[in-house]
Amino acid sequence: QPLAEDTGEVSLNGYEHYMLKEIHEQPDSLRNAMRGRLNDEDATAVFGGLNLTPQQLRGVERIILTGCGTSWHSALVGEYMIEEFARIPVCVEYASELRYRNPPIENNTLVFGITQSGETADTLAALNETKRKGHRTLALCNVVGSSIAQAADGGVYLHAGPEIGVASTKAYSSQCCVLAMLSLYFGRMRHMSFESGGRIIEELRRLPAAVEQALTCDSEVRRIAAKYADASNFLYLGRRYNFPTALEGALKLKEISYIHAEGYPAAEMKHGPIALVDEHTPSVFIMPRGTTYDKVMSNMEEVKARGGPVIAVASHEEAQIRRIADEVIMIPEVPEFLQPIVSAIPLQLLSYHIAVLRGCDVDKPRNLAKSVTVE
Ligand code: G6P
Repeated sequence: QPLAEDTGEVSLNGYEHYMLKEIHEQPDSLRNAMRGRLNDEDATAVFGGLNLTPQQLRGVERIILTGCGTSWHSALVGEYMIEEFARIPVCVEYASELRYRNPPIENNTLVFGITQSGETADTLAALNETKRKGHRTLALCNVVGSSIAQAADGGVYLHAGPEIGVASTKAYSSQCCVLAMLSLYFGRMRHMSFESGGRIIEELRRLPAAVEQALTCDSEVRRIAAKYADASNFLYLGRRYNFPTALEGALKLKEISYIHAEGYPAAEMKHGPIALVDEHTPSVFIMPRGTTYDKVMSNMEEVKARGGPVIAVASHEEAQIRRIADEVIMIPEVPEFLQPIVSAIPLQLLSYHIAVLRGCDVDKPRNLAKSVTVE
């Protein structure tokens, strides 16, 4: 059975591009990722296809998350989530490095290959190599029956529906969402209380509505895009859960608008990237309220003091942000572990509108492929 995207069956549904359609599909794709997977009775998540017993999973002492591109970014988010909620040490590896690096891997290590397409050559090779060494492998994948889904010992499907735009959007948010549910699941097997599990379930259930609300920033983002579409360089800065978001925002802009962009942990800026700041280089600060909020505010002030235009993505109206930032994009407040999903929305839209304004081929950017099946 050919996939819908191969047969050109997926309609644009009135949208100008698949990427925009897929950005707007995220409330639904997130609902689909969660459907049937949240269990109130035990305050945990349930997965049908892990193919591992609770005893085997309880014995996991380390998790490796591997992938490429945007999937590698969701792995970084997953690292923070799993370590916070399940207290299992996680390392994130580029699949292209993991396959040749031959790192020492302890017994009782579980290896997750994260991939939208399930066909990325490096991710497949990394998974096969770790499996050959006797480790258990799981796939976190969107395309049902894909090579990586078949090669792994088990896995979790994203159920995001076909993603046609080359730049990944809804698959990214679904990957983060599934990783959050896995963190809940592993956490509840270990130290997490029934109450904490129940709270996380409630927070996850509120997520699609928060994403819906975040999407209402579209026209404001379009206005901002028009103002900065001629820039040659962008910086994206965030901390903790929003550091991977900064990387993802920068990647989206590079991929489809061909503007050079760098994502950094906001505090690392002082160690190099701040030298790039000038009046032509906008910095996007991802700063919904959370643990490092005040610190990021200071970082933003440092950039402003050096004459750089500042775009803030924030969750609260505050005089100080309005005073420092040239533009403020408001997103709804969610717990910190879900911020990467909600704060990615304006960044996806920013890259989309800039690319359209620059006349770029949004769904099929130059030199890129939807899945990279060669080394
Ligand atoms: C390509 C795509 C990216 C994607 C990456 C990994 O570079 O253009 O959007 O993130 O491959 O793909 P995967 O299907 O393994 O997630």
